[in-house]
Amino acid sequence: MNRKSLGIRLTGALLGASLLTMAAHAAGPKPEDAMEYRQSVFNIIGWNFKPMGAMVKGEVPFDAAAVARHAQYVDLMSKAALEGFPKGSGPDAVEDTDAKADIWTNWGKFETAMKNFQQESAKLAEVAKGGDEAVIKAQFGKTAETCKACHKEFRKD
Ligand code: HEC
Repeated sequence: MNRKSLGIRLTGALLGASLLTMAAHAAGPKPEDAMEYRQSVFNIIGWNFKPMGAMVKGEVPFDAAAVARHAQYVDLMSKAALEGFPKGSGPDAVEDTDAKADIWTNWGKFETAMKNFQQESAKLAEVAKGGDEAVIKAQFGKTAETCKACHKEFRKD
């Protein structure tokens, strides 16, 4: 085979592969995969939120550097959560989810709850850099309220 025909074959193979990728995207993620993705995101959020809560309650000594690091992860993950809720990935489609069907019948409200969480998390990451304990604790409280508000309405107990 000469160089040119090899080139054409390779191009054809690459084109085929990228068309397949596009088709896979068009079909969207599998409900099971979406559930696993969002649960992983919330696991990371919980992992980082918990030690901050312990500090706020005074169960462990306040550590400004640790708070700043945890707050950054929560901020980042808050922006990654929404895409884990594609249509058709609710309790009708997946068994092991705690997500309520109301998410998809009430999408606007769910999106707003997520936006509130993102806003407060971003503020928390911001004030955490400042290291002011009282300000951080107050902002932690506001952020925790946004978790509770969404769980109360959209997550099974
Ligand atoms: C806009 C809605 C919303 C917000 C805000 C939110 N959550 Fe959740 N969270 C959910 C839903 C829905 C589930 C259930 C996901 C599932 O099982 O498919 C969940 C699940 C979880 C889980 C369990 C994950 C697992 O392993 O199954 C943890 C932990 C969690 N959230 C922590 C938090 C914390 C901490 C915050 C705030 C810092 C927060 N969430 C903010 C909606 C939200």
